[in-house]
Amino acid sequence: MFDKINITNMRILGIESSCDETAAAVVEAQGGDFMVREITNVVHSQVDLHAEFGGVVPNLAKREHQKLFVPVLLKSLEGVPVANEQPVADLAQVEQFFDRNQPLFESLALHLPTLKKPDINLIAVTNGPGLEPALWVGVTLARALAVLWGVPLVGVDHMRGHICANFIDQQPPEFPALALTISGGHTQLVLMEQPLQYRLLGETVDDAAGEAFDKVARLLGLPYPGGVPISNAAEQGDPNAFDLPRPMIRSGDANFSFSGLKTAVLYLTQRLGEKQTQARKNDIAASFQQAIVDVVIKKVLNAVEEHAVQSVVVGGGVIANKQLRAQLTHAVQQTRATLHIPPLHLCTDNAAMIACAGALEHIHLKKQNNPHTIGVDSNRVVDER
Ligand code: KG4
Ligand code: ZN
Repeated sequence: MFDKINITNMRILGIESSCDETAAAVVEAQGGDFMVREITNVVHSQVDLHAEFGGVVPNLAKREHQKLFVPVLLKSLEGVPVANEQPVADLAQVEQFFDRNQPLFESLALHLPTLKKPDINLIAVTNGPGLEPALWVGVTLARALAVLWGVPLVGVDHMRGHICANFIDQQPPEFPALALTISGGHTQLVLMEQPLQYRLLGETVDDAAGEAFDKVARLLGLPYPGGVPISNAAEQGDPNAFDLPRPMIRSGDANFSFSGLKTAVLYLTQRLGEKQTQARKNDIAASFQQAIVDVVIKKVLNAVEEHAVQSVVVGGGVIANKQLRAQLTHAVQQTRATLHIPPLHLCTDNAAMIACAGALEHIHLKKQNNPHTIGVDSNRVVDER
C-alpha cells in the first residue's frame, strides 16, 4: 500500500509554534509501523501572558517564541544521544534565515557552542495553519537546524498533527476513521479512508468551539481561557435551565457554527441583568456547554454512519471537557466504531504530534521540504497536498 523508506529506527525532532505554545519534542519511529514513541515533549504555554488581552496577540506570541524556543529545544534534547558526526554548516551560513527573527538568532548564537549535534534523522515543523508571525519563528529555527546539522526537513500541517497524536504510544485506529479536532482555533471533521489520507468533511463556519467557550466565559465574568472555568461552573448548574440554540444541528452537512450560540448567551445575560446570580450563571454555563456537546455529538454520529467508519479519533484541547468526553464516549459506544482519545498532553498543542505526523509522511509518503525554500501557509487546509 505504501512505499516505505527502509529505516529500522528513526529519531525525529518536532517543532511547533502555530499559536501560543512554544514546543519541541523528540519521538522515535519504526520504518514499517504507524506507531511512534514519545521520547521527550516540552511545551511552554504563553497562556498567562495573553490572558490579560482575553486572547492570543500574534506579535506578542512571536516575541515570546523567539525568546523561549532555544531553551525549550535544549530541554527537549536532554537525554537524546549525541551524533557521531559534526554539524555540516556554521551559523554564518544560516544567518539569512533570521531576517525578521533577530532575537531568535541571538539566542541560538548564544547557546550553539554548548549544543552538540543530536542523533536525529529528521526535523518536522508546523508550517500552517496558524498565526503567521508565530509560525515563522518555528520554521526559521527548524530550517536553520536542518542546514546546520545536515538533516532532512519536513513541513507539517498542524491539524494533521492533532490527528496523528492518536498514533503515539497506542495501537493505531482501524480505518476508515473519522477525526474530530476541536480546539481554540479549530473545529473540524476529517475522514481518513486510509492512514495519512485526509478529507475535510466539514468545519466551523465562524467561531471554533474553544473560542465559543472563551467568549462565553468573558460574558459570564470568568477568566481566559474559558474552557475550564465554564466546565467548573457548569457542574453546579442545570443544563436544561435555558433552551439555547443548537446551530446547524440539522444542516445535513458536517459544518458547525457557534457564533449564534454565543450571541444567544449575550442576549440572555442582558435580559437577566441584575437577576444574574451565581446560580443563574452556573445554569447558563451548563446550558451553553450542553448545546455545544449536543451539536458535536450529532455531527460525529452522522459522519460515523454516513461513512461507515471503524474508529473515531480525537484531538484538540476542548476534549478536556468532562461532559463532552463522557457523552461522546457513551454515544460512540452505541455505534460499531471505537473511540480513540490521546492523553490530554497530546490533545493540546505539542510538538510530539508534529514529529509524529512528519515522520509518518516522510517514511510512508517520502515527503520532504527544502530548508532554503520552505514557507508558511497560515490558512492551509488539512487535505491539501
Ligand atoms: O488545543 P488547545 O490547547 O489550543 C488550541 O486552540 O490550539 O485548545 C485550547 C482551547 C481553549 O479555547 C480552551 O478554552 C479550551 O481549549 N478548553 C476547554 C477545556 N479545556 C480547554 N474547553 C472546554 N472544556 C474544557 N475543560
Ligand atoms: Zn492546535
